[in-house]
Amino acid sequence: MMIARAVVTFCAALALGCAPAGDRPHDPNIVLVFKHGKLSGDGAILSNILREFERRHPGIVVREELLPSSSDRQHQYYAMNLDGGQAPFDLLGVDTIWVQEFAKAGWIASLEKVLPPAEREQFFPGPIKAATFKGQLYAVPWYIDAGVLYYRRDLLDRHGVAPPKTWPDLVHAAQRILDAERDPRLAGFVWQGKQYEGLVCFALEVLHSNGSDLWGGDRARAEAGLRFLRETVAGHRITPVSVGMADEESTRQIFGSGRALFMRNWPYAWSLFQREGSLVRGKVGIAPLPSFPGYPSAPVLGGWMLAVPRASAHQQEVGELIRFLTSPDAQRLVALGLGYNPTRRDLYADESLVGARPLLKDLYPIFLEARPRPVTPYYLLLSQALQPEVSAVVVGRKTPREALDAVRRQLTRIVGSSDLPVAVEGL
Ligand code: GLC
Repeated sequence: MMIARAVVTFCAALALGCAPAGDRPHDPNIVLVFKHGKLSGDGAILSNILREFERRHPGIVVREELLPSSSDRQHQYYAMNLDGGQAPFDLLGVDTIWVQEFAKAGWIASLEKVLPPAEREQFFPGPIKAATFKGQLYAVPWYIDAGVLYYRRDLLDRHGVAPPKTWPDLVHAAQRILDAERDPRLAGFVWQGKQYEGLVCFALEVLHSNGSDLWGGDRARAEAGLRFLRETVAGHRITPVSVGMADEESTRQIFGSGRALFMRNWPYAWSLFQREGSLVRGKVGIAPLPSFPGYPSAPVLGGWMLAVPRASAHQQEVGELIRFLTSPDAQRLVALGLGYNPTRRDLYADESLVGARPLLKDLYPIFLEARPRPVTPYYLLLSQALQPEVSAVVVGRKTPREALDAVRRQLTRIVGSSDLPVAVEGL
């Protein structure tokens, strides 16, 4: 109901308040192919927005083509299809970590004119930085992500346990509730442990939350961070072994079916838990990720942006489509209907939105503080060096020390310097 009303309001606002974009007539029958990863939730929300764009731009048709939601698999597709200067699509959803690589390769067009510098200030600064290559903007932030902790408020309340602020608190809380509940189907803490980008995100969150890092800095603390990942499974026994194959969606399903106390995930899962028929509706809380005592919480910055292949023949029209999709009205609708959060900061003070989605107030400082992964055209190379090593720790095939040695050896080779932290910053 609320979503249907929001769509009507959106169209009304557009009809009354905004002049139709593009004063000049468009070539009739331009088809803009919009390739993006599958979003969770009701697909009609985004297609309604696209239909509204078509209504306002006679002669333009937008065709959505979906890829799997996994960032790694989408990257593979784009790398294959953009290399060689072709583009069987006009608009693409890019993970925040790819923009530097795609811009450097010459695969995507500068969007300097689509989002003028003054308007960029209305967006969160982290994503704008990630979207800027050599002083030019190459992507417009579409929605923002940061790691958060989900917890079963009902179970914590029943056992008089407060949401944990530190990792040791989380371990104790989970052990205590698991012991008392004696439910073999209930896991303590689920997170993304499969060998893929999501694992790099969580590993960085844990290491950053004790002041260490994977590629440089204090070794002992970095090893302790990696050890924590393994110990959730092996020593503390609060995490099922199957976490070694888990991604965002599989952990969301475990938590969503009432089979976990705590979960690390991105904010998108919240709205899905509150849907009618959800087994955990009204029973879930969300909090900043814990940290090690004495250090602050350290969520990783994630999120998706919109970019245009250099080879698209419809640069102007697709620029208008990007402005439309990242407008306050469209971002409000996507947040309300799908739970993907706005990249425009003012929307976090917008009563009509925050009233319906109060969670945004809690998320705002988390998004503002979230720490970007290294902003470099070589990010994927770094990540692919890390993934098998961190995964080997999670499944118990390598000790944290062995994995960290291997990671630092490989990164040194990639960067071509022994002074890794500095070199990674300035690649
Ligand atoms: C989410 C984030 C993205 C991250 C990915 C990892 O989609 O928005 O930035 O790379 O998860 O799985």
